[in-house]
Amino acid sequence: MTVITTIDDLREIAKRKIPRAIFDYADGGAYMETTLRANRADLLAIKLRQRVLIDVAERSLASSFVGQPAAMPLAIGPTGLAGLFHVDGEICGARAAEKFGIPFCLSTVSICSIEDVRASTQKPFWFQLYVMKDRGFATSLIERAKAAECSALVLTLDQQIQGQRHRDIKNGLTVPPRLTFANALNMLTKPGWALPMLKGKRKNFGNLQGYIPDSGVTVLAQWIASQLDASLSWKDVAWIRSLWPGKLILKGVLDAEDAKIAASSGADAIIVSNHGGRQLDGARSTISVLPEVVEAVDGKIEVLFDGGVRSGQDILKARALGAQGCLIGRAFLYSLAAGGEAGVSRALEIIAKELDISMALTGTRNVDEIGPHTLARGP
Ligand code: FNR
Repeated sequence: MTVITTIDDLREIAKRKIPRAIFDYADGGAYMETTLRANRADLLAIKLRQRVLIDVAERSLASSFVGQPAAMPLAIGPTGLAGLFHVDGEICGARAAEKFGIPFCLSTVSICSIEDVRASTQKPFWFQLYVMKDRGFATSLIERAKAAECSALVLTLDQQIQGQRHRDIKNGLTVPPRLTFANALNMLTKPGWALPMLKGKRKNFGNLQGYIPDSGVTVLAQWIASQLDASLSWKDVAWIRSLWPGKLILKGVLDAEDAKIAASSGADAIIVSNHGGRQLDGARSTISVLPEVVEAVDGKIEVLFDGGVRSGQDILKARALGAQGCLIGRAFLYSLAAGGEAGVSRALEIIAKELDISMALTGTRNVDEIGPHTLARGP
């Protein structure tokens, strides 16, 4: 039995538990996966500044996102099809986040719907919006998010068209889908995943129910790719702003020029993100872009961060470079596949513990004390 101390341990368990094609869907990135790797490598390359004899007996991770309190500067970010990793995956994630006291963001392309998650949680969650060609669909999703009292709308900007994920293509997760013999065989070797999925009561397509034919998850993937709207532009951000009176977060900014436009778009926050290296391979890592984006927005709106976050140390580094807080994508999916809600709770505990201990060893008592001085200069 593995002693689980890191997100990588949970990833290894997930790899054993779920079908290869689903694991690869989470684990992989676009093209040669250079941006995916750079997100991690550049975070790991940053050095922390060890400090001693600062009284750190009293410590707190308490934080806030877009004016909402959080138990630590972390949110669970939106990941499509989380319900494929564990039965009721989105509900598991929302419940674990709620228990921990951090935000959970539901994807447009979830398996559990906005209403399913609302009915299974007490506290408000965030909703992520993909604007599709059918603008009426976006309007109706916004209305449903309002009815569910979602506390923020996260508008994703970096998927006007879908990046090419070569692992998915090789595994047959294509449009149209290709169920290979190897895939089918591999699924049969994962009864611990397959049986609960078959027994699972949720046979619909979450938020997309009624919009697509009810005949399989592969149809869902096909429908999503065909519906993404390549014509999306800044004037659509103004349109969404006019429809959503609550907190609006723009996800997928990776350029100082774009960050400046975003800062005067009426949004409340941006997320520096490259979609976890799943869209433009060859784009810069998120942590290398973060400082110039922070400088560009000049405090006008909050800057959040994702891409490669696997530990509390990553949060400490991002916060030192000016991010208000971070989001996780794969760390959520690995832990969900490894152990459902309990697995996600374990991941959050692991991340929080590493953050707490690393803060203490850098002489930091609370998240407001984290700053550029937390990082070491030199090699
Ligand atoms: C994503 N991401 C994503 N983003 C979004 O806005 N809507 C979505 O539906 C999805 N779906 C999705 C599925 C999977 C399998 C992954 C891995 C990612 C991107 C996600 O929100 C986030 O930006 C990255 O995952 C962050 O990088 P890490 O934490 O995975 O390294």
